[in-house]
Amino acid sequence: MKDHYGRKIDYLRISVTDRCNLRCIYCMSPEGVKPIKHREILSYEEIIRIAAIAVSLGVKKIRITGGEPLARKNITYLISSLNNIKGLEDISLTTNGVLLEKYADEIAQAGLRRVNVSLDSLRADKYAKITRGGDIDNVLRGIDKAERAGLIPVKINMVAIRGFNDDEIEDFAKMTLEKSYQVRFIEFMPLGARDLWSPEKYIPINEIKSIAEKIGPLTPVRLRKSGPARYFRFEGASGVVGFINAISHQFCTECNRLRLTADGKLRPCLFSETEIDLKNPLRSGAPDSEIERLIKLAIEVKPEGHNLNCTKEFNALRPMSKIGG
Ligand code: GTP
Ligand code: 5AD
Ligand code: SF4
Repeated sequence: MKDHYGRKIDYLRISVTDRCNLRCIYCMSPEGVKPIKHREILSYEEIIRIAAIAVSLGVKKIRITGGEPLARKNITYLISSLNNIKGLEDISLTTNGVLLEKYADEIAQAGLRRVNVSLDSLRADKYAKITRGGDIDNVLRGIDKAERAGLIPVKINMVAIRGFNDDEIEDFAKMTLEKSYQVRFIEFMPLGARDLWSPEKYIPINEIKSIAEKIGPLTPVRLRKSGPARYFRFEGASGVVGFINAISHQFCTECNRLRLTADGKLRPCLFSETEIDLKNPLRSGAPDSEIERLIKLAIEVKPEGHNLNCTKEFNALRPMSKIGG
């Protein structure tokens, strides 16, 4: 599947729920986001049907996202069903890690390859503050369990926010000296809890990288399928650090992804409000050929890039928890 700009679209991010068991301050208000009604959420059967059609059209990699995907009942069933789709090469999941200790073994056995874990502070008190109540030990145990279950490489996502956790950038980078994690720093995007984002809190990726470099020189490493992150290694380190310039980036030209929201909308781009509904056609008995046509349409309208600049003007209709990152 090639789009208008010659990009090969082979990656589908599937958000399975907009609900979450945390309330990260940059993502949600304390009361959370108004949830999508249960009947509007795609069933696993509907998701599996869409996934199988997408794979028949050339998708090779699926990432399960949320809200918090491990908070949806029986996620292992979805993983093992996706794992039965011939032609699908990679199934991964992005999680906040709260339920990872509990589920790592069973999701690995069901065919999940890897996990990306969101972790924005290594200090118990600050972690609890950022997540409004999360227990960091729980997440650290989850990461450890995931590694032992073979869900590797474990990627850790740290959204760097000025005045908030920028004093921990070095500590996060140091984790890679001993552990074979991929620690990724992400630019803070004006999505989600809009009143928290401001140009002052945004730290450009070059600045994040120079803070990390206080530990020592970083050598670029080329990883296969590296996606939006650019990776580097400290001399002798077991793991790597990655930098995701979510705002200032130039990776639109290499963008290989489509997103499916929990309520069945295909989004060709994270930063565009264009959505193509699959839920209603599915529920009114559309044949596979019609779903195929709609997936191809989403690829056809995938924009060349985003025009997001570092202002507060991006008024996303959907918060991050309703897109899946
Ligand atoms: P892999 O490379 O497959 O491990 O996944 P990933 O890095 O794409 O996934 P993850 O869910 O861990 O996302 C990491 C961060 O990158 C999140 O903050 C995402 O919102 C951001 N991100 C992922 N895809 C895009 C994209 O197309 N555009 C932008 N701007 N950010 C993205
Ligand atoms: N800016 C950057 N990254 C974000 N994420 C959630 N909201 C934002 C934001 N406003 C990250 C989460 C998770 C990933 C899917 O997206 O921390 O790791
Ligand atoms: Fe939940 Fe992820 Fe949003 Fe945090 S960033 S509240 S873990 S959906």
